[in-house]
Order: sequence, then C-alpha cells, then structure tokens
Amino acid sequence: MSSTSEEEKFIPRNDTFLDQTLRPSSFDEYIGQDTVKSNLHILLSAAKERGNPPEHILFYGPPGLGKTTLAHLIAKELGGNLRSTSGPAIERVGDLAALLTNLVPGDVLFIDEIHRLSRTIEEVLYPAMESGALNIIIGKGPSARTLELPLPPFTLIAATTRVADLSAPLRSRFSGGVFRLEFYSEDNIADIVRRSAGILGVDIEEGGVREIAKRSRATPRTANYLLKRARDFAQLKRLPLSETIVADALGLLEVDALGLTPIDRKLLIALIERFNGGPAGVAALGAALSEEPTTISEVHEPFLLQLGLIERTPRGRVATAAAYAHVGRTPPANLNEKLL
Ligand code: ADE
Repeated sequence: MSSTSEEEKFIPRNDTFLDQTLRPSSFDEYIGQDTVKSNLHILLSAAKERGNPPEHILFYGPPGLGKTTLAHLIAKELGGNLRSTSGPAIERVGDLAALLTNLVPGDVLFIDEIHRLSRTIEEVLYPAMESGALNIIIGKGPSARTLELPLPPFTLIAATTRVADLSAPLRSRFSGGVFRLEFYSEDNIADIVRRSAGILGVDIEEGGVREIAKRSRATPRTANYLLKRARDFAQLKRLPLSETIVADALGLLEVDALGLTPIDRKLLIALIERFNGGPAGVAALGAALSEEPTTISEVHEPFLLQLGLIERTPRGRVATAAAYAHVGRTPPANLNEKLL
C-alpha cells in the first residue's frame, strides 16, 4: 500500500458520490483528449459493426486525467457492464480466475494500476487476453496438471500512471490501442468547470471560471475539487464566485497562481537549495521531502515538467530558470550546463 501523501490531502484521489455526478455519461459530454476519443470512436464503431468485443485497451498518464472515466464510457457505449478491479487487489491466480470466469459476453473488465500486478498473475493474464482461455496449473511436481477454462469474449481496459513499469509482453497485448492521456488545455478545463458548476447548481462568474482553470494543474479532477472548495468559501461569505473570491479561496488552500501546492514548491526549493539546482534523483528528493518517491514521480513531477519548471536529464532532475523565478531564488551562472 502506498502511504497517504500530503498531495492526497489537498487533492483527494478517491471518487466521491459528487465526483460520480460530475463524471460525463457519454462521449459527447467528455471534453478534451480529442485524438484519444477519435481513435476510440473508430475502434468501438468497427467492433460493434462486426459484432465482436473491441481488442484490449491501455490508458496511461498522470492521475486525474480521465482514464477511469473513459473505461466507464467505453462499457456504456458497448452496452455492457464495467467490472472494476485494480492490480493490488488481484493477489492470487484464483482472484483473477474468479474475475474472468464470472464475466458475461459484453462485459468490460477494468484493471486500474495494472503496473502493480505480480509477474505470476501477468503470466496467467497473457493467454487469457490472447486466446480467450484461462490456463491454471493445479498441484505441484509430477502430479501437476493444467486446467483450461474457456472464457467469454471480453475486452480488458487497463490504466496506469507508470507505463514504463509494464513488461514488454504485457504492453504488446493491448492490441486495441495504447493511449497516453495528455494534460488538458486551459480552455478545456474552463469548459469542464462551467459544465460542473451547471450540474452542481453553482453560479460562477467567468473570471472565477478562468481562475480555477489556471490553477487546476491542467487536470479535471483537480478543477472539480477546486470548484467545490471555492463554492464552500463563497457560500459561507455570502458572496458570488468572482475571480477575487476564487483567488482568495484557492490562496487559503495554498494553491498558487500556477496551481502548485506546498509540496510542489517544497520540491522546487529542495532541488534548488539542497541539491544546488540538481541533478537530483527521485529517491533523494523523496527523502528530502519525506514523501514516497512514487508520489514524486507520478503526481508532482509530470506537472512540473509540463510547466517547464524542472527538466529530466540522464543524471536526474534539474531546476530550470522558471523554477528559480517562481520561488524567488537567483539561478546559478552554470544553469545552462546543468540542463545539457
Ligand atoms: N469531468 C471530469 N472530466 C471531464 C471531462 N473530460 N469532460 C467533461 N467533464 C469532466
């Protein structure tokens, strides 16, 4: 189990009832990720026309960009149920066998955090993905035998924040497509905020929408979270959700003008002050911040890279001139050499 990070306190990961309400219920309602949507449209339409389940699909990218939402939309589009599980929940071959043998035709199996599947489970999953049969070895030694359980045709959708951790054989079996979800444009996030405000019955001024969009880390989950917290703030103050009120509410949450949280800023300051601007490895940064290295690499780094505040070099992470400016420090004279 990964520990609860500070980030999760600011930006909760778990879906609440409200998040379910805000989740788009059709592809038409889903804003952004246009290339992924176009490819999925072709994959799903062609498979439906042939009367077959589409081939297996893998989504990867930073948390909160809509991987689970897309899995729900695909199942809905196909008229089947989504059976959801996650890599760490599948501990034994028997867990996987139970999941697969209980599928009915048309079901879509969703495995979140697929990078956390054990190698043993992966090796049972490959043939199931390819041949539609589950081969289970019963017993040990000379008396061991293989039991072959036929499976209904099914589509596996998997999601991961760490695609590099998947073995090549597993990755290659997602023949329907391997799709990287991108950070959203500010305009797309603004559209999502307007849509969510409409569903929640919240009146928000255009300036307020833009302020949330700017500070949402280009991530819909964060946008919806900030909208709800800004709504609470405005409600108690009996004030409209204007640009100023949103800025005050988000300031109180310590989300700055670029959308950075205290941990993002601490990371930049540690990189600059303790590691002289870098290069520094994720493990060293994690130790300096008392954070799990995986939280640094999966949650914080992708957005800091996207903003151009850090760069990845073969020797580790390096703070850029923009990072020095953002945290009010003076860059060293040899900054350009570090970035090489
Ligand atoms: N809510 C969360 N993600 C969304 C998206 N991509 N489009 C519309 N509403 C959303």
